[in-house]
Amino acid sequence: MSDPTIPIVDLNDVSSSDPAARARASAALREAFGTYGLVYVTGHHVDRSALQPFYKTFREFVARSVEQKQHCLRASDWYQRGWTPPNTETAVAAGGQPDFKECYFAAPHARDEANASQYRELYPENVWPEPPVPGFKERYLELGSSLHDAGVQLLIAAARALDLPEDTFTRVIEGGAHVTRVLDYLPLDEKQVGTGILWGEEHTDFNLLTLLPGGQFYNPAGEPSARPDDKSGLYLRTRATAEHPQGLRVRGAVPEGCLVAQVGQQLEILTGGRFLATPHEITAPGVPGWSRLSSAHFVHMAPNEVLFPLAPFRSPEAVAAYAPPVLAGTYAIKTLVDIGLAPRTALDKLGYRHYDRLDSIKAAERA
Ligand SMILES: [Fe+2]
Repeated sequence: MSDPTIPIVDLNDVSSSDPAARARASAALREAFGTYGLVYVTGHHVDRSALQPFYKTFREFVARSVEQKQHCLRASDWYQRGWTPPNTETAVAAGGQPDFKECYFAAPHARDEANASQYRELYPENVWPEPPVPGFKERYLELGSSLHDAGVQLLIAAARALDLPEDTFTRVIEGGAHVTRVLDYLPLDEKQVGTGILWGEEHTDFNLLTLLPGGQFYNPAGEPSARPDDKSGLYLRTRATAEHPQGLRVRGAVPEGCLVAQVGQQLEILTGGRFLATPHEITAPGVPGWSRLSSAHFVHMAPNEVLFPLAPFRSPEAVAAYAPPVLAGTYAIKTLVDIGLAPRTALDKLGYRHYDRLDSIKAAERA
């Protein structure tokens, strides 16, 4: 079903000095993040007219051969920069079926060197196609940076909406491993249509806040086109209620010109569940040959921030639901293992890791 009741927040209200405008933004965000886990955003300074030309540059990159794209593949950096080939990432609830997409990751800001030294794979240097795709890097960084700025405004509004000091969430993102992703959802062939292949399996985002500027479908001739059918697109699941214990499956019907901002797991945990990380999925069309490009900017908590409900939300239920406290960085490592981007051996570093040391000392003693 389509649901027109998801609120719209105007960032001009957030930055306004008028208390009534700020209150309007807070009320919209409280309802949107509390019930739906996402909000439509207007009054942003993201240049949506730059999306089409940006996507065109990414299509030029993905059209290159695997050999040409190989130098952008960074498995040893857990794919956190550069190219992720098709069928690599697998959502936690997907039963092992990878998503039918190929992607690119780049960070729009200079990295935090202290955090990078402690969490190497979360902060690799950006990597760019060679030979360059004209305009790709510039448009990419501009989009990521403007989405991040919108995210910062929303986090201020989110803190106000919960009667918290307004820097509560912006303080914990300083030096975070914020990253922008561009995705190419791949065309299905005749045999694949209707077989349950998903472009993006139902999942929740594991970061603090995700900003989505909007996607674009391409018809089998590769031309930008309107949605081919009702089957394809973004669906989300609303909060469970007594009446709807599994929540309601709602189609994301984004008003013209708006961004979408989604609550990630980190924001859910900090707010003890007051704000909800929304399960969402990207369904593939019921016709062959169509593809879709989209992008997302992920705002992360800094890796050494503690992920646990903030004091005002530490009810016994919230403590039970979100214990034990963990660092945002170790949480990220565990999640990247779970979704198939980091190797399982990454988990060995999350506990004692010198089990062999005493053995080798004793062996030397015996020698
Ligand atoms: Fe997502």
